[in-house]
Order: sequence, then C-alpha cells, then structure tokens
Amino acid sequence: MIFKRKQNLEIISGIDIGSSAVRVVVGQYDPDEKNKRNIQILAAVEVPSEGVHKGVITSIEECVSSVSNALEKTERTIGCPIEHLWVGISGTDIISQESKGVVAVAKTDGEIEDEDVDRAVEAARTVAAPLNYEVLHVIPMTFSVDGQTGIKDPVGMTGIRLEADTRIIYGLSSHIKNITKTVYRAGVDIDDLVLSILANGEVVTTPRQKELGVVVVNIGSSTTSLVVYEDGDVVHTAVIPVGSEHITNDVAIGLRSSIDVAERVKIYFGECEADKILKKEKINLKDCGSEVFEEVSKKYVAEIVGARVAEILEKVNEELTSVQKAGVLPAGVLFTGGGSKIGGLVEFSKDIMGLPASLGYPLDIKGAADKVKDLSFGTSIGLLKWGTMLHSTGMKSSLPLVNSSSKIVEKIQSLFKSLIP
Ligand SMILES: Nc1ncnc2c1ncn2[C@@H]1O[C@H](COP(=O)(O)OP(=O)(O)OP(=O)(O)O)[C@@H](O)[C@H]1O
Ligand SMILES: [Mg+2]
Repeated sequence: MIFKRKQNLEIISGIDIGSSAVRVVVGQYDPDEKNKRNIQILAAVEVPSEGVHKGVITSIEECVSSVSNALEKTERTIGCPIEHLWVGISGTDIISQESKGVVAVAKTDGEIEDEDVDRAVEAARTVAAPLNYEVLHVIPMTFSVDGQTGIKDPVGMTGIRLEADTRIIYGLSSHIKNITKTVYRAGVDIDDLVLSILANGEVVTTPRQKELGVVVVNIGSSTTSLVVYEDGDVVHTAVIPVGSEHITNDVAIGLRSSIDVAERVKIYFGECEADKILKKEKINLKDCGSEVFEEVSKKYVAEIVGARVAEILEKVNEELTSVQKAGVLPAGVLFTGGGSKIGGLVEFSKDIMGLPASLGYPLDIKGAADKVKDLSFGTSIGLLKWGTMLHSTGMKSSLPLVNSSSKIVEKIQSLFKSLIP
C-alpha cells in the first residue's frame, strides 16, 4: 500500500507470514527519485509466528494474533497506522506453468500498442486453472509478432498477429483464502498477494544476473523456495518441503538434546563442512541453554548439519535438472532466508551444485534498521520492491510482472465487509 506520510514522501508496507516468524517491513521512497526507486526502510519488525506450518496457515485464530502483534509493533515504530500491505504467499501448493495468448492487433495500420499487449497477456490467462487453484501471477516472458519470436517489448512494432508467451503461477484456493482472511481479520487491506520467492528474487538480483542465468534459493524454517531466471525471465519456481528446522531436529536427535538446545547449537556452532573442523573441537551444551555441563564434538554436529544441508541442495539441484539448468547458470546461486546463515554454506554449495555461490542481500535498499542486511528479511523487503515496481509511474509498460490475484482478494474482502454490520 502507498499512502502519504509526509509531504512528497510515500510509504509502502509488506508482510511475510513465515513458518517461524511474521515479518513486517515499512519503507518510503521519494517519488521525485522514481527512476531510481531507492527504498528507505523505516521499520522492520519480527515476531514469532503461530498457526503456520510449511508456509501454510494451520490455525487462522493463532495466525491473526501473530499478524496483529507484528502490525501493532510496526505501527508503534513508525507512528502511523498501516492500512494496506503487500502480502507474501508461499507453501508447497504452488503450480507454475507456461501459457500462450494470441490476439489480432487492433489498429488498422498494424502498430502494436500497450492495449494489444495487455489483451495478449489476458488471453494467455484464460486457460482453465487446475481444479481448486487460482491464478496468482501471469508473467509475460516473450512475444511473437507474425511468427517472429523472442521479442521482449513489441509496443511500436507493426504486425497482424501478436502472441504472448507467459508463465502462470497458481496458488491453492483454500490457502489464498486463509491468508486473505487472516490479514483482513487483523484489520488491514491487501494490496496484492505475491509469491514470496518472486518478491525475494526481485530484490537480491541485478538485471545482468537475471539475464545471464541465476537461481535464488530461500532456505526458510520448514520450506526451501527457489526461483530460476534466464534471459531476464522467470523460468522456474519451486517450494521444497524441507528447511532449516529439519537441521535442528536432526541435531536434537543426534545429541539427544531438547529442540531449544539443538536450535542454539545449530545457530551458534553449526557448520556444513565437517572436514574443516578438528576432532578435538568441542561444544559445551551449557553455552546453548542446557541445564547440565556436557561436551559434544563440533565435528559430529557438522556431520549432522552437512548431511541435511546436502540433502536440501540436492533437492534444489533436482529442481534445476527438471528445467535443464543444473550446473549451467553463469551467475550462479544466491542464498537467502534465515537458514542460509548456517556456517560455511556458500563454500559447501559450490561443490554440490557446481555453481558460483554467494549470499543474497537486498540491493538498493537503505535504512537505519540493521534488518536491511538480514537474510531473514529478504522476502518482506522484496515485497516493498515489488510494490514499488508496480506503482511507479512510467514503469508499467516495461513491467515484466503482471499481478492478477487482486480479483480473488477483492472478492474475499468484500464478502467480509458484507458480513460486518
Ligand atoms: N544464524 C543462523 N544459523 C543457522 N540457522 C539460522 C540462523 N538464524 C536463523 N536460522 C534458521 O532459519 C530458520 C528461519 O528462517 P526464516 O525466518 O527465513 O524462515 P520462515 O520464513 O519463518 O519459514 P518458511 O519460509 O519455511 O515459512 C530457522 O529454522 C532458524 O533456525
Ligand atoms: Mg520464509
């Protein structure tokens, strides 16, 4: 959402309802600077999330209370109410498929206009959605004019037949409804739902990386999401049902410790590469919240962590293989999400994935909040970038992303409004 705060300054908010935390970020940008669209973060708030598992809402009641809590904290920080926000949606029930739309160019002289492009994209959208799924995004990739393929921006060209190649992303209807209900019950309107990994990918990649070919991998608590770009287009998205909490569980079993102690062992001492650790190195579980003094081998913990991280990376590789992109993305892999803070991930992944690797921090984002440089905030900050891209004037025609979940969001919100006396 964008509303006036101070003269000439507009603010925009996003919420990422994750399995471990709800994060709300509010940013502002100067409309005079719209070509740069640099966002300044005003507040970045995180509260533990309840009622969410594997990115899916399992209890609306509990989730509403976490969302309300996060919103209240944010409002106190920025000193004004949040009325609308961009909402991230994730979970394993996301389907992505390609679709073509064909239209006749409207003008008699055959010059293609923005409206023709919109109609072609709309035509691509009319394919029947899988049962119980709704369209979240229709992303135009390339266009063909009278059979000439590979055109990025057909506006101004001349032809009779315009064809749009798009990627359609569907979300499970019940999941979309639950997220919409939750946010609405917390008393705010939704600007739109955005597939979390797309928002995240948008803020950590440069146009050049997307052109060359890059994969963004978000290792969350119970899921790992990825988006692959090539030639500037989204070529694949996936959500894998394994995340960093599985590492914690493995450590707890391996050490026969509680989950809380295992979580601290992972965060303070977890490393992926066991061969880089000496046998004699020890971890004292008392430093990780255990009641008793007990020493465990750091190398053993790294073996446990490494095995699970390798499994996650192999699953990412399987997804890349499914689109013939394993080991062949020149701009490599960018890791984000809280789980990517695990020690030694970047080096470890280079061997397994055979790609250049680095951590993916948000780009072109400023702000006093240290969260700007926190990998856990990639999705929520990405939502601001997404919202800004969609709202910036003069940006629409070159926009690579068309959002279309608004209709269902509006439907559900108006239903709610009609129920309130
Ligand atoms: N320093 C750290 N080292 C290792 N793991 C960490 C570190 N900090 C956080 N994590 C892990 O990151 C995970 C949380 O990541 P994140 O906040 O991105 O997940 P989420 O968005 O809530 O979950 P999901 O995306 O699966 O719905 C937790 O499992 C946590 O243990
Ligand atoms: Mg997440």
